[in-house]
Amino acid sequence: MTQRLNDKVTLVTGAASGIGRATVMRFLEEGARVVAGDVDREGLDELAKECRDRPLSTQVVDVGERVQCEGLVADVLAGAGRLDVLVNSAGITPRGLEETLDYEEKWDAVLRINMKGTLMMCHAAVDAMRQQGGGAIVNLASIMGLISYHPDLPLSDGFNPYPHSKGGVIQITRDLGVRLAPEKIRVNAVCPGFVYTALTAGLAESPDLHQQLIRRHPMGRFAEPEEIASVIGFLASDEASFVTAAAWTVDGGYTAS
Ligand SMILES: NC(=O)c1ccc[n+]([C@@H]2O[C@H](COP(=O)([O-])OP(=O)(O)OC[C@H]3O[C@@H](n4cnc5c(N)ncnc54)[C@H](O)[C@@H]3O)[C@@H](O)[C@H]2O)c1
Repeated sequence: MTQRLNDKVTLVTGAASGIGRATVMRFLEEGARVVAGDVDREGLDELAKECRDRPLSTQVVDVGERVQCEGLVADVLAGAGRLDVLVNSAGITPRGLEETLDYEEKWDAVLRINMKGTLMMCHAAVDAMRQQGGGAIVNLASIMGLISYHPDLPLSDGFNPYPHSKGGVIQITRDLGVRLAPEKIRVNAVCPGFVYTALTAGLAESPDLHQQLIRRHPMGRFAEPEEIASVIGFLASDEASFVTAAAWTVDGGYTAS
């Protein structure tokens, strides 16, 4: 394994599961020092147990709370003295919310975490990166921030907040990427197709829908979280030194087909 991320102090949100967890593992393998944040205390404890003896610390955070975002970054700076990389992977879909909520409540709940949470983590991190002369941010968007759910799919009536939130994440990425380029802070988004994680478990349980979704990927399958983590590692590393304000599809050809 190459060591693209040697000694880079990295903060990953949504780190207890799925893509965030795979990112933590990949970054540790590539030499980074990692702080893992998530609302899920138990998931973080399991991660810490698995990574015993590695340079990993964990902290509970709700990225929808500004004070907690700022507190988390302050703690990283107090502990490590710098913050080189921020990966915003915390995210939800309306499928995980109580069905009794109406469309507006679901929209607020999803936007609060996916879009505003990303924004607030970026806001908290940028000052530190600016003062130290640079850094890299990778935001988890989605192909659903670039395209709509196909009308054949029973996934949206047009009011599903998930694509709206991810379109917002892409635009935050572009705007910050452009503004922060002169200060050597690179900001990029990753737009995965469907990935096998807790987030999509409900979809994969329905055989017909699962097959329909698989067929939309020319590669004929969903991704594994590690295949997203490797691209996140590249974007965070100095190998991506001229890459900023970009939305990277990692989708097995979905959006091109
Ligand atoms: N799985 C996919 O198919 C897919 C596709 C495209 C984009 N994404 C995006 O990738 C990111 C990671 O998704 P995943 O598939 O790994 O999901 P996941 O459910 O496996 O992991 C998400 C993690 O975020 C945490 N989280 C939720 N709310 C939080 C909050 N308020 N504060 C802090 N942590 C919180 C959860 O506890 C969980 O550990 C999300 O932003 C998701 O939208 C996923």
